[in-house]
Amino acid sequence: MKKLFPLPSSIGLVIMLACLASGPFARAAIENSECLGCHSDESLFRSGTDGVNHSRMSDQLFVDEEKFSHSVHHNNGIGCVDCHSDIKKLNYNENVPHKKQLDVVNCTMCHEEESAAFKDSVHMKIRGKGITMTCSACHGYHYVKHQESMSAKERANNSCAKCHNTSQTHDWLPKKNEHFAFVECVVCHVPEAPRHIHLTFFDMMSNKFYSGQEILKILGITEEDFMPVLDINKDGTINVDEFENLELMLRQKNVHAIFHAEMVAEMQAIVHQVNRGAALRDCKTCHSADSPYFKAVTLVLTRDDGQADHFQVDRAVLESFSLRHFYALGGTRMKLLDKIGFLLLAGGCAVVIGHLTVRIVTIPLRKKNEVESKQSSLLKEGSR
Ligand code: HEC
Ligand code: HEC
Ligand code: HEC
Ligand code: HEC
Ligand code: HEC
Ligand code: HEC
Ligand code: HEC
Repeated sequence: MKKLFPLPSSIGLVIMLACLASGPFARAAIENSECLGCHSDESLFRSGTDGVNHSRMSDQLFVDEEKFSHSVHHNNGIGCVDCHSDIKKLNYNENVPHKKQLDVVNCTMCHEEESAAFKDSVHMKIRGKGITMTCSACHGYHYVKHQESMSAKERANNSCAKCHNTSQTHDWLPKKNEHFAFVECVVCHVPEAPRHIHLTFFDMMSNKFYSGQEILKILGITEEDFMPVLDINKDGTINVDEFENLELMLRQKNVHAIFHAEMVAEMQAIVHQVNRGAALRDCKTCHSADSPYFKAVTLVLTRDDGQADHFQVDRAVLESFSLRHFYALGGTRMKLLDKIGFLLLAGGCAVVIGHLTVRIVTIPLRKKNEVESKQSSLLKEGSR
């Protein structure tokens, strides 16, 4: 057991703490360091485990200060007692200077919208089966990270994939692993959630993504200058010419970055409304000339803290010359539907398509009618 925290000896400190105890979160009332005085000890375990719900809490009472300091909550000034809000003051005369059993932390007190959206989800309905799913089941609690700069895969691993093994489901979806790599789970499972095509910088040489900071450093500009430098015609959107210009600027610095595109949901509360029945199955929703799923395209500069800066890009960039080399098969601009048609014809056995890290759905450029006739026959196949 850790030694007791020293008594605050100076009256000045007491007065200071009392003054700081005002304000909405009254967080300064008890500094994190006071809690960490005991809870940064890896050998601190609870004395008894009766009545402890292990699906919620661990026996080890260690909190990793370093990891906590990178959490979204710490970054936003949320301290230990903002969440453990039933600790109003510490009694330093005691071995355990607070109640031995504390109240369950209520995420809802700060995240009402998310809780409301969650109420309509399949995960709330399983309460009927006696399973209570907490916010922490997906997010964890002490080390919650911003997810904005994460890829679709990382987002899935960070939540859904902790419980669902998609290798045994979704067999109706051709190329399902590609879909999971390029389409975030909630894009299909919460069709009402706004989403966008998320473009990040990828280096084929080192096989890794460039962070926003790295890109800015390479370009020798600050984040504030990014749009002013890029958006030459000042319309607030990066168009095809401007996009090509960016590619050129990078190439001049000897950086051969290409763009990695994924379909991800916006960070909004509605993503919590995960459902089965409503999930997207209709191929045409995405694989069609005027799919609303490709309307919003943003270039993303990721930040170290997991947040990201978004810059609006003209949808035409997805079809542009500067992105053409992404396509897997052949040199010509190929319509995805041609590929699907090919796959279906080949009966799925001729999976010629090697795994390319970086690709993007070709938004069919040619006339819509052409596409539609094909689609109707495809869709029958696809949804079998
Ligand atoms: C003097 C050391 C000490 C300090 C300071 C301290 N704790 Fe604890 N804490 C303990 C011990 C010991 C236990 C385990 C009690 C037991 O044996 O069940 C504990 C348990 C807990 C638990 C688990 C409660 C439960 O319901 O099982 C939480 C949460 C907690 N502490 C949070 C905090 C927070 C937040 C602070 C700062 C405001 C803090 N502690 C300060 C020693 C300390
Ligand atoms: C975002 C809210 C949040 C913040 C901030 C937070 N906690 Fe927790 N803490 C939780 C939740 C949730 C649990 C799991 C138990 C529960 O559901 O109440 C928990 C559990 C614990 C436990 C029990 C052991 C464990 O890991 O399950 C300890 C000890 C603890 N917290 C200490 C701290 C300390 C010390 C800090 C500040 C450095 C802190 N907490 C900050 C939400 C928070
Ligand atoms: C005392 C208020 C408070 C409590 C309690 C609280 N949070 Fe937060 N949370 C915040 C603030 C402030 C932010 C940062 C602003 C924002 O993104 O909304 C945040 C952000 C988040 C994010 C956003 C991450 C991202 O990608 O931007 C998640 C996820 C999150 N909290 C989960 C939780 C969970 C899970 C709990 C319960 C264990 C919890 N929060 C409890 C205040 C709180
Ligand atoms: C903590 C574990 C856990 C996590 C994390 C989780 N789920 Fe679930 N999910 C469940 C459980 C349990 C069920 C209920 C299964 C049942 O009813 O048989 C369920 C049900 C579902 C269903 C309905 C399945 C059906 O058979 O009706 C869908 C769809 C779903 N989850 C999608 C998701 C998505 C998308 C995510 C990520 C955003 C996610 N889940 C994260 C545990 C989890
Ligand atoms: C292209 C859209 C799409 C994507 C992407 C997608 N799903 Fe689904 N998912 C569906 C549809 C549609 C169903 C319903 C199938 C049915 O009713 O048979 C489903 C069913 C499920 C089920 C219930 C499985 C069953 O058959 O019992 C779970 C769980 C689930 N999805 C989780 C996930 C997770 C986790 C991810 C991300 C890794 C994901 N889904 C990605 C469309 C999608
Ligand atoms: C089934 C898994 C799951 C559960 C349970 C869950 N979340 Fe989330 N949450 C997600 C996913 C996935 C995202 C990110 C969506 C995206 O990638 O765009 C997210 C995003 C967030 C965000 C950032 C977006 C926003 O709304 O600002 C917050 C805050 C948040 N969750 C809080 C909560 C709270 C509070 C709860 C409990 C009521 C909760 N989450 C329960 C999966 C979950
Ligand atoms: C939510 C949008 C969405 C839905 C719904 C959807 N897809 Fe996709 N699909 C994508 C994205 C994004 C990719 C990744 C594009 C890439 O690899 O270039 C993709 C890739 C594919 C590929 C692989 C193409 C390649 O280059 O390897 C095939 C085949 C495919 N989809 C067929 C279908 C069929 C058939 C359906 C209906 C059963 C369907 N998709 C439903 C978005 C979707």
